[in-house]
Amino acid sequence: MIIAIDGPAASGKGTLARRLAGHYGLPHLDTGLLYRAVGRAMLDRGLPLDDAAAAAGVAAQLDLDGLDPEALRTGPVGAAASVVAAHPAVRQALIALQRAFAAQPGGAVLDGRDIGTVIAPEAPAKLFVTASAEERARRRFRELVGRGELADTPEGLAGVLADIRQRDARDSGRAAAPLKVADDAVTIDTTALGIEEAFAAALTAVEAHRP
Ligand code: DC
Repeated sequence: MIIAIDGPAASGKGTLARRLAGHYGLPHLDTGLLYRAVGRAMLDRGLPLDDAAAAAGVAAQLDLDGLDPEALRTGPVGAAASVVAAHPAVRQALIALQRAFAAQPGGAVLDGRDIGTVIAPEAPAKLFVTASAEERARRRFRELVGRGELADTPEGLAGVLADIRQRDARDSGRAAAPLKVADDAVTIDTTALGIEEAFAAALTAVEAHRP
């Protein structure tokens, strides 16, 4: 069974994807890491993020085994990922790898922005995980403060909210595979849900669509 999970930044989709993968014993791919790896390589090489050809070249060389989630989860890398992810050539270069992951015998869990719409439209179970921008900003802020990347100030929180809004606008407004709810997806709004409640809702939705 393929489980496709999409949603905006800090909605809780990654946590739900990991939990569902553990529950069903399926491999999991956080596809944001692919775009983050491209963004990170562009920054490291001093290449402009709007150089679509260079970014597509980096994307074509990516190898799933070489991804380092910890190094890729920092704030500047997320913003760079959102910029390079808008280039159609970058998305194209990453499609085969994601589809091959989804097509593993037994299935897989993938989370991102276009899994249910572009990468695995055939997935029987599709979730769209969301939360208010304010709640997502609070979660991201707590995470950054916890990692010592940001001071615990109201200005810090306001800055994170502004970043989240900018990322939402870019990810939803782009022409190539924008973030949107697949017609047959179940939406889970985690604004007022704890992790266990969100997981229970996700499990119910997946069980209802299990082939
Ligand atoms: O989920 P994330 O925050 O790690 O993703 C980082 C960026 O990558 C996100 O802002 C948009 C892009 N992305 C995408 O365009 N398509 C995906 N399937 C996953 C991520």
